[in-house]
Amino acid sequence: MIKNDLSIGFIGVGVLGKGLPLALAAQGYRVVAAYSRRLSSAQWLASRIPGCAAVESAQELADSVDLVFITTPDSVIRDVAAALRWRPNQGAIHCCGAASTELLESAADQGAVTGAFHPFQTFAGLDDPKDALARMDGVRFAISGHGWLPDYLAQVARDLGGQPVSIADADRPLYHAAAVLACGHLVALLHGAVDLWQSMGFTAEEAVDALYPLTRATLDNIKNEGLAAAATGPVVRGDAVTVRSHLEALFQRLPELVPVYGTLARASLPLAVRKGIGPDQVTAIEELVDHYVGSE
Ligand SMILES: NC(=O)c1ccc[n+]([C@@H]2O[C@H](COP(=O)([O-])OP(=O)(O)OC[C@H]3O[C@@H](n4cnc5c(N)ncnc54)[C@H](OP(=O)(O)O)[C@@H]3O)[C@@H](O)[C@H]2O)c1
Repeated sequence: MIKNDLSIGFIGVGVLGKGLPLALAAQGYRVVAAYSRRLSSAQWLASRIPGCAAVESAQELADSVDLVFITTPDSVIRDVAAALRWRPNQGAIHCCGAASTELLESAADQGAVTGAFHPFQTFAGLDDPKDALARMDGVRFAISGHGWLPDYLAQVARDLGGQPVSIADADRPLYHAAAVLACGHLVALLHGAVDLWQSMGFTAEEAVDALYPLTRATLDNIKNEGLAAAATGPVVRGDAVTVRSHLEALFQRLPELVPVYGTLARASLPLAVRKGIGPDQVTAIEELVDHYVGSE
């Protein structure tokens, strides 16, 4: 399969439906058509990729390409695929992390070859092919599918600078939950830290500036030294007195953060044990969390 022989179209030009086609185009793939609910979104993409046309219907797109990437929100992928007429051996691909190719069964029923291609990465904020390609560097791509598609998609992943991985269909929700913990929930966590800075009179921008070096250094430490070495703070020191002062202050000032803090303190205990805190210290911290958050 020669990549440049296949024409590619994207249905759904949102966060991923911008980043992925831009990166593919930067690597010489023929992204020739875009369709989105709003024509202006398809035009946005077409204006950045030479040879790419914004088309006015999903069927027009499907009729004009070899491979259709459906990059709409997960909740409508099944309906979008079901509304199309597919050609035998045409590729139908979704990029949903949690679901299998079962979402595309109506395409498969018509003889299309179906696949799932999920980059374990976030694509917010991209509008340039070079930046989009750089965002793919080292990324794992969960690939599954039928017929010739898995091999083709694995090659796409490698061409983008990533690594294909195989995830069992039954494990996909877990795999995707891992992405959410590491990305969306990380943002939620930092939102809480920003709230704390704001409660002390700083702006949100000042808070992000203050938090960024700490968070970045922590991620660097995780990568370079491992999770246990990167874990610092009162829980891994077994310092229940400081944990109590945090929980009490949160309870007084921002009680909505008590469950998050308490749950994560509890989640830190296995690492703390690995780093050497003793059973009495574990019990003291567990009792504190139970007191403020409740036991599981
Ligand atoms: N966001 C990420 O970083 C990321 C990472 C990995 C995988 N994914 C996967 O990529 C897919 C898209 O996610 P996303 O975050 O890019 O979503 P998104 O930002 O909401 O973009 C999807 C776009 O599809 C268009 N759309 C909605 N309904 C449509 C329909 N019925 N027909 C055609 N176009 C429609 C909308 O664009 P207009 O209204 O502007 O036309 C919408 O902005 C999902 O399967 C998601 O799991 C996303």
